[in-house]
Amino acid sequence: MKKIMNSSLNINNVGEEVELYGWVQKKRDLGGVTFIDLRDRSGIIQLLIRDEKYASIVSEIKNEYVLRVNGKVLERENKNYNIPTGEIEVEVTDLEILNTSKELPFSIEDNTTALEDLRLKYRYLDLRRPILTNSIITRNKIVHSIRNYFYDNGFIEVETPVLCKSTPEGARDYLVPSRVNKGKFYALPQSPQIFKQLLMVSGFEKYYQIAKCFRDEDLRSDRQPEFTQVDVEMSFVRQDDVISAAEGMLKKVFKDIKNIDLELPLPRMKYDEAMDLYGSDKPDLRFDMKINNITNLFTKTNIGFIKNIINENGIVNAVLAKNCIDVFSRKKIDELSEYLKDLNGSNLAYLKFGEEVTGSIAKSLTEEELESIKKALNIENNDVLFIVAGTNYKKVKTSLGALRIKLANILNLIDKDDYKLLWITDFPSFEWSDEENRYMAMHHPFTSPREEDVDKLINDKEHCYSIAYDIVINGYEAGGGSIRIHDGNVQKKMFEALELTEEDIKNKFGFFVEALKYGTPPHGGIAFGLDRLTMLLTGTENIRNVIAFP
Ligand code: AMO
Repeated sequence: MKKIMNSSLNINNVGEEVELYGWVQKKRDLGGVTFIDLRDRSGIIQLLIRDEKYASIVSEIKNEYVLRVNGKVLERENKNYNIPTGEIEVEVTDLEILNTSKELPFSIEDNTTALEDLRLKYRYLDLRRPILTNSIITRNKIVHSIRNYFYDNGFIEVETPVLCKSTPEGARDYLVPSRVNKGKFYALPQSPQIFKQLLMVSGFEKYYQIAKCFRDEDLRSDRQPEFTQVDVEMSFVRQDDVISAAEGMLKKVFKDIKNIDLELPLPRMKYDEAMDLYGSDKPDLRFDMKINNITNLFTKTNIGFIKNIINENGIVNAVLAKNCIDVFSRKKIDELSEYLKDLNGSNLAYLKFGEEVTGSIAKSLTEEELESIKKALNIENNDVLFIVAGTNYKKVKTSLGALRIKLANILNLIDKDDYKLLWITDFPSFEWSDEENRYMAMHHPFTSPREEDVDKLINDKEHCYSIAYDIVINGYEAGGGSIRIHDGNVQKKMFEALELTEEDIKNKFGFFVEALKYGTPPHGGIAFGLDRLTMLLTGTENIRNVIAFP
């Protein structure tokens, strides 16, 4: 008889003889009849054991024992419509214990109270919990869908080395000592960036790879030191071509996994606008609450700190939380102030529009200022306005960007079943690093500046923008890419802009600069974070939940 997965059975199989294998989730002995919930990776099915001859073997069975059973599918008297097999049960006609199990350190349930440390120690047991089993199965489906898409569209999957030279993606490398060349080290790839560009020089035209990447950086809930990219590169393309190939993949994956029809093309927003309106280069658009610039309403202000800030060319910005005055007690607002202090040292001011206007700067505002604020932002009764002022544009914006997310969570403004995707484009080429005391590449040093900005590489880095794009889903950076530099002279300028010496360029990228001289086609690409994409599609906020062995 053929082995059958539990959850493939339903009311249509009543009367059939089946053979099942699985683990004991639960045993209930009702004297004369015993029910066992048998679990396999597909789900649970109820076994019914009535025959006296199994009494002694049944008495031995404990949770997580491994069983083989043969039986007949019956319609259940008391149906459970919450599980796929809830209308049936299997009356056991043969039963074998294939293996026993020690008592488990925690029970196999989705809603476990076991601490994560313990669960990670016994990861193989943790993975028996359906929520984790299912997220790994979904990951498999996503990879399958992605591979089909790229194969069907003429992309060639090529594996690139793991023991290699350093690749610059802005994190620290993991190093592996070489036995043959004593004192020398391999770096594990932060991404296959250089290899995929070399493949374009080779003429492959359309490449993809499900690639392991390694970055020695601080952990976050959406980061792992070892993670997987869906890495893509294409020749003879412009930004729109890469974006449309990527959108095609996303459309297929969302359809295959969630049965969601994404509307294409996806919206796009320039980096500068995203920072201005959302204080982030990965705005969560599942809720509105944009950042407002209210600097010009304070030009005649008497509020000391705001006056000083404006005199120093600073800005006053605010986000408005609608109809929620009761939520923001003094204590709650103090917590938010602390949060911003810890984040980047910003100070939070606020105004509460109740019967009277109260809040940290209420008393110092003139009647005229108050009216102009109300009018400019369409403020109504019961609204709360959160204000940050400062001389550092980015700091003010990122503070309010972070506060925006905090407020949305407190006010329950986010629909967890919603997906909002958008492209962020036109990133600055450079970012000033205080630590390094020089400009660093915002994306990576192979990213092409916009055609009109090539000259700014050297003389005006602050205003040099690149042909780079990120795909943002629900506030996560799910992927990023760019059109690359294919002209050796421009690449040289870029390295100079990053203050690399001739020596550095030769040592680190000599082979790559050389390759650019041999007929390199115009090219560009993108890499998606497979783990992050899986997180988003399985609705978890912890990246470890989509990786079998994090
Ligand atoms: P980037 O560094 O933006 O670009 O990485 C691409 C995507 O990979 C995911 N990602 C991560 N996921 C989990 N843990 C991490 N530590 C981690 N780091 C990155 C993110 C990110 O958007 N070579 C370029 C791509 C290109 O230009 O084609 C690159 O690696 O989802």
